[in-house]
Amino acid sequence: MTATIIDGRMLAKNIRQDLKEEIIRLKAKGVTPGLAVIIVGHDPASVTYVKAKAKACQEIGIYSDIFWMAEETTEAELLKQINDLNENPNIHGILVQLPLPPHISEQAVINTIAPEKDVDGFHPVNAGKLMIGAEGFIPCTPHGIIKMIQSTGETIAGKHAVVIGRSNIVGKPMATLLLREHATVTICHSRTKDLSKITKQADILVVACGCPGVIGREHVAEGAIVIDVGVNRKPEGQLVGDVRFDEVKEKAAYLTPVPGGVGPMTITMLLYNTVQAAKQAVQ
Ligand code: GUN
Repeated sequence: MTATIIDGRMLAKNIRQDLKEEIIRLKAKGVTPGLAVIIVGHDPASVTYVKAKAKACQEIGIYSDIFWMAEETTEAELLKQINDLNENPNIHGILVQLPLPPHISEQAVINTIAPEKDVDGFHPVNAGKLMIGAEGFIPCTPHGIIKMIQSTGETIAGKHAVVIGRSNIVGKPMATLLLREHATVTICHSRTKDLSKITKQADILVVACGCPGVIGREHVAEGAIVIDVGVNRKPEGQLVGDVRFDEVKEKAAYLTPVPGGVGPMTITMLLYNTVQAAKQAVQ
């Protein structure tokens, strides 16, 4: 079998077009969705992501403001900046780019963002709402992945979904979302024994461990849907996923590429959450 490639760029483009039209309607009511992005320090990958987020906002009519803060910024200074943005009526979404320098507590920062402006969906209130099936902001990467799986036309209900990775940003919310879609869910991680025995049982395999090329033909069942969340830069600059694309495309039914797969959808769901936040502020 040769896999159908799930084109994240195309899917993202279609959703962004719908959002653009929604933003025009919001602007007619006097509301311009606004996103504040805070970056502390100069981590090159984070700088790239932050610029990509701001550009995507501009393209569809969301106002965005990037706050470049020095590496030596104290936790108190950062929390003050977040509190100011919590009070700012022109800002509907606040995103603090992670990781933060080690002297700043990520959890303290996330806890300070007002839950109704937490477009990353990382605040304990939103994480809790996801867990109990209540409405709240859904983390962007797993939300985008659900849209990608749904775009195949395959049903999720009843399938065995295996998630590799247990981060708060991807693995855990991904497993929760798949469960909400009535999949049978297994989570694998660095201590999992006999990984391939489990992954070979997957109808849907989501790989989010940040290990370049760790998943190959020996891990994948014929006809599986395989989603590669890995973004790993090789020393020569090339981006590669966690999945060995050329091997797995001969076995999977559907496969996402890197780049051009999950990445564009993550940013798109950030735009989606920002528009939702602005809509809630209007009501
Ligand atoms: N760092 C890597 N991914 C993310 C993300 O989705 N949101 C934020 N805020 N930081 C990240």
